[in-house]
Amino acid sequence: MLVREALAWGILELEDFTSKQLEARILLASVLKTTQEDLLIRYNEPISQEEESAFYQYLKRRKALEPIAYIVGKKEFYGRDFIVNKQVLIPRPETELIIDRVVLEYQENFAGKEVTILDLGTGSGAIAVTLATLIPQAKIVATDISDEALALAAENAKLHGSIAQIQFIKSDWYSNLPGKKFDFIISNPPYISPDNKIYMAQETILYEPEHALFAVENGLINYRKIIFGLNNFLKNENKVFLEIGFNQAEDVINILKEYPFTEIVISKDLSGHDRVIEFKFI
Ligand SMILES: C[S@@+](CC[C@H](N)C(=O)[O-])C[C@H]1O[C@@H](n2cnc3c(N)ncnc32)[C@H](O)[C@@H]1O
Repeated sequence: MLVREALAWGILELEDFTSKQLEARILLASVLKTTQEDLLIRYNEPISQEEESAFYQYLKRRKALEPIAYIVGKKEFYGRDFIVNKQVLIPRPETELIIDRVVLEYQENFAGKEVTILDLGTGSGAIAVTLATLIPQAKIVATDISDEALALAAENAKLHGSIAQIQFIKSDWYSNLPGKKFDFIISNPPYISPDNKIYMAQETILYEPEHALFAVENGLINYRKIIFGLNNFLKNENKVFLEIGFNQAEDVINILKEYPFTEIVISKDLSGHDRVIEFKFI
């Protein structure tokens, strides 16, 4: 079978998918260990029997709604490739906003200085590793409750040359952290109410880890826990950045009212949804 025949076959197999051409290209490029652009150059070249079987398996998995990132084992985040597997949430484009907000704060108030950052619930390490590469002066502690997530995050840190900047700690939020305070505390915690499962994409429900997605008490329990512990781990006058669900700003602000926080700012993602809440601890 030639590359172009394999592509045509893939597109046909994925006919029910909106982005069938793109997806067939991504899957075939991954099987052939090459780029999508290179597929065009190799259009009339044959693929081997093994490659054909591997492509068949990829198409079968995709037709069973497995997210493409898990099939090819990677996802781009902030222009960098992250290794992903079923033990971690696939990093989402809307999470890139938290990176922009933290980098802006660093440039405005810390430029050139060492800064300590705590990333709670690091998953694939997307936030911690991206910040480490963008802020070479950052010393980061990245936590997760999942051993598998921490192992994968460490692999991503190695891949991007930031392993020396990040310490990985298994911890249920703050439970296992040493008693030191940080300049920035960041988290994209699980925040989807289990009641909203019915509105979610099947591929997420079927394949992504529940412990990375859902939170009881209307999706708010993790915000309550994280905010409750902040005063022990955040330096005075410093900032917290939390990703929130598009309709959670008011609820999270209500939690904050119980504590001495100021300068609350909500930022919207590219779709115009509230996505990041940041605030200072007095
Ligand atoms: C929404 S995912 C975010 C992953 C990654 N930071 C990102 O933005 O792509 C939430 C992460 O929090 C972790 N998590 C869930 N409960 C936790 C807990 N009690 N303590 C620490 N981490 C937890 C999950 O394992 C998951 O990796």
